[in-house]
Amino acid sequence: MTAVSDVSSDPIVYLNGELVPLSEARVPVLDRGFIFGDGIYEVAPLYAHASGRRTAFRLKQHLARLARSVGKIGIANPLDDAGWRELIARVVEANETNGGLRADQDAIAYIQVTRGVAKRAHAFPSGVKPTVFVMVTALNLPDAAQRSSGVACVSAEDRRWLNCDIKSVSLLGNVLMAQYAAENDAFETLQFRDGLLTEGASSNVWIVKNGVLAAPPRSNKILEGIRYGLIEELTAECGIRFEARDITEAQVRAADEIIVSSATKEVLPVTRLDGAPVGAGRPGAVFAALHAAYQRAKAAAASAEQEGVENESRERLTV
Ligand code: PDD
Repeated sequence: MTAVSDVSSDPIVYLNGELVPLSEARVPVLDRGFIFGDGIYEVAPLYAHASGRRTAFRLKQHLARLARSVGKIGIANPLDDAGWRELIARVVEANETNGGLRADQDAIAYIQVTRGVAKRAHAFPSGVKPTVFVMVTALNLPDAAQRSSGVACVSAEDRRWLNCDIKSVSLLGNVLMAQYAAENDAFETLQFRDGLLTEGASSNVWIVKNGVLAAPPRSNKILEGIRYGLIEELTAECGIRFEARDITEAQVRAADEIIVSSATKEVLPVTRLDGAPVGAGRPGAVFAALHAAYQRAKAAAASAEQEGVENESRERLTV
């Protein structure tokens, strides 16, 4: 058994047709994910709720992005939406049954698809079956202190490639940015390309000025987070004006609020940037409104599921 340093338990994972303990899951070294970073992934939250069932929050949107990601790199989607949902449900059930995941624990589904195993040559091999990996582990959301005090961020030039819209496992650029944050006691690195805000190492970034929320427009320079569309919807619900527009570095530094969003962070206030306070140095009113609306959206998704209501905008549970 190989110990994986930061995985304390040994969850049951799915790999190429089998459910196996993580410690026993193996891919050949010629897997193109290993050799070339030739693959894509998804990270989707599965919220626990009182009924004992789970809300696969916005899974429809996560699966649509997965389909776009494989499509953009010429891999045939190994499963349709129903197949992915069923697979995630199987992995959840296996982990609940073996006691690795409590029914009241929020979880995260990690899905990875690589082009598969082939003799090492850069161009796509033919007749290769994609590698499919699904792992479900506990989700530890930011704690109350991070939400009430906000987090510190640093900034850096965005030196990644120009296909950031693909949720690729080729994450070295993002890894270096996350490491830069870690080395500077920061939570996240906000990146700028040609003087304009792009995104964090693993999150989308939002600013607030005079009550108006803004984010860089959807493009190849950022990953369109599933929270991007969600937050757009929440601003409408909360009566907050939203603008998708270019945001300069100066505008970021003069913002009243900065917010980061991702599946594992939900929304989180940034109260220091490169050592300077953001706005008043405290989480702001727009963050508070969006965080509350986010929690309402989770509750609504859970009750829609309980009532057996299929509602496309409020993601229906299937696991
Ligand atoms: N990352 N931008 C980047 C570069 C990201 O890696 C992520 C998420 C996001 C936000 O996307 P979403 O709202 O769908 O989580 C934006 C995930 C959580 C990760 O890599 O673990």
